[in-house]
Parts: sequence; C-alpha cells; structure tokens
Amino acid sequence: MNIILLGPPGAGKGTQAERLEKSHRMIQLSTGDMLRDEVKSGSELGLQAKAIMESGELMPDDIMVQIVAEQLCRDECEFGFTLDGFPRTETQARALDGIMREKGLKLHGVIEMKVDDDALTERITGRFSCAKCGAGYHDRYHRPKREGVCDECGSTEFKRRADDNEETVRQRLAAYHAVTEQILPYYREKSILRTVDGMAPINEVTRQIEDAIAELQ
Ligand code: AP5
Repeated sequence: MNIILLGPPGAGKGTQAERLEKSHRMIQLSTGDMLRDEVKSGSELGLQAKAIMESGELMPDDIMVQIVAEQLCRDECEFGFTLDGFPRTETQARALDGIMREKGLKLHGVIEMKVDDDALTERITGRFSCAKCGAGYHDRYHRPKREGVCDECGSTEFKRRADDNEETVRQRLAAYHAVTEQILPYYREKSILRTVDGMAPINEVTRQIEDAIAELQ
C-alpha cells in the first residue's frame, strides 16, 4: 500500500507515518527528515536546506523530486510506503505520478489531515524527539511513559527542531495554504483523496487512517 499523508505543519503526519511503519511495514519517507540528515552531514545541499527550512520557505521542486525518486528505489519500499511531506506543490505531484509510472508503482491514496491553524503552533512548539532513535513526543500530548526516558530505545537524550519556533511556523503555515493545499483538487479528481480529523486524539486519528486505508485498498 502506497499513500501520501498531506497536511499542514504539525498536523501529525510524522506521528502517523511512524505508526504505519510499525503496523503495516509501510516505510516512512519523510522529506523533512531527509533534508535534516543533509543538514547534519554538512553537505552543500544541507547548507542550502538549512537556510530555506529555517525561513519556513519551500525547497526547489527539482531537488525534492530527485531526492524522492532515489528513495523510491529502496528495497524496503516493497511492502509499501507513506510519503510524509511530499508532494508539496502541483509540480511535485505531477512529477511523482511520472516516477511511480516509470517504476511500475501505484499510488493507492492521499490522506488529508485537517487541523485548525490555532492548534498547530502549540503542537509544533511543544514537540521534541529522541536524539538517538528519533521517536517523536510532545510536552503536553505525548510524553514518554517514564519521564526523561525514550519509550522506544531507552535513551535519555532528546532534541528540538530549529524551525519549530512561532515565526517560522507562521511562514510554514502560509506556504501550506498558498501552495500545498492547492494540490488537493488534483487528487480529488482522481478519487483517491480521503480526509481525516487531525484534531482528534492521536489514537483516534490512527483509527480514521486505518479506515481510509481499508477503503482505498
Ligand atoms: P517537514 O519536516 O515535512 O515539516 P512539516 O510539514 O512542517 O511537518 P512537521 O514535521 O512539522 O509536522 P507533522 O505533520 O509531521 O507533525 P508531527 O507528527 O511531528 O518539513 C520541514 C521543511 O522542509 C519545510 O518547511 C520545507 O522547508 C522543507 N521541505 C520538506 N519537504 C519539502 C518538499 N516536498 N518540498 C519543498 N520543501 C520541503 O506532530 C507535531 C506534534 O504534535 C508532535 O509533538 C506530536 O506528538 C503532536 N501530535 C501529533 N498528532 C497529534 C494529535 N492528534 N493531537 C495532539 N497532538 C498531536
């Protein structure tokens, strides 16, 4: 099963993609994580990505399309994948269709996660993750079961993202409404778009996504 999770910053795309990887072995392909790895590696692309991500703007389409095309060649994708953060523009959406066609893959569905803008800033500024395994948490909504210890790997080190501040979130949100949201009709016309209530508690969102996946299969 190959799907796209589409929603504004903080909608819960990463949280739910992580869950789908565990429950359905659908590989999480997060373009944000890929770019953050580049930043960490200190590559030329990483330097460019750092500046753009911290401003809340979008990376150029050609770069993102190339990154995703390479990822879709991974053997682990054989059980399916969840695209998290891609496509973000109509150009990327059309390019993805071309890549999938070329590789003989099918896009089963696009799941839109709807969340009120007001809730997003709180979600994003409260977010942190395990510095070792990357498991995601939130100050208020999803704390580790044992305070200060990662549920997944037992590490005691956590980190926060450089672009998780109010000003950048405002810009990321503006980019979502101005550009990314505009690709919803593209998928609606193909009858593969489903919408879930991203304002619901995390487990309930998972349940709604499971229902959507069952319907799209
Ligand atoms: P990216 O890393 O993709 O960031 P984003 O889209 O802004 O999304 P986030 O990762 O912030 O949020 P999320 O929806 O994954 O939410 P999460 O599950 O963490 O992109 C970063 C930047 O990279 C972009 O701004 C751009 O510059 C660049 N970029 C990336 N891809 C690109 C592309 N294709 N083209 C161009 N540029 C690109 O949840 C957030 C918090 O809320 C967590 O703490 C979580 O625990 C909590 N939470 C989750 N669900 C719930 C719930 N239901 N109720 C309460 N709390 C919840």
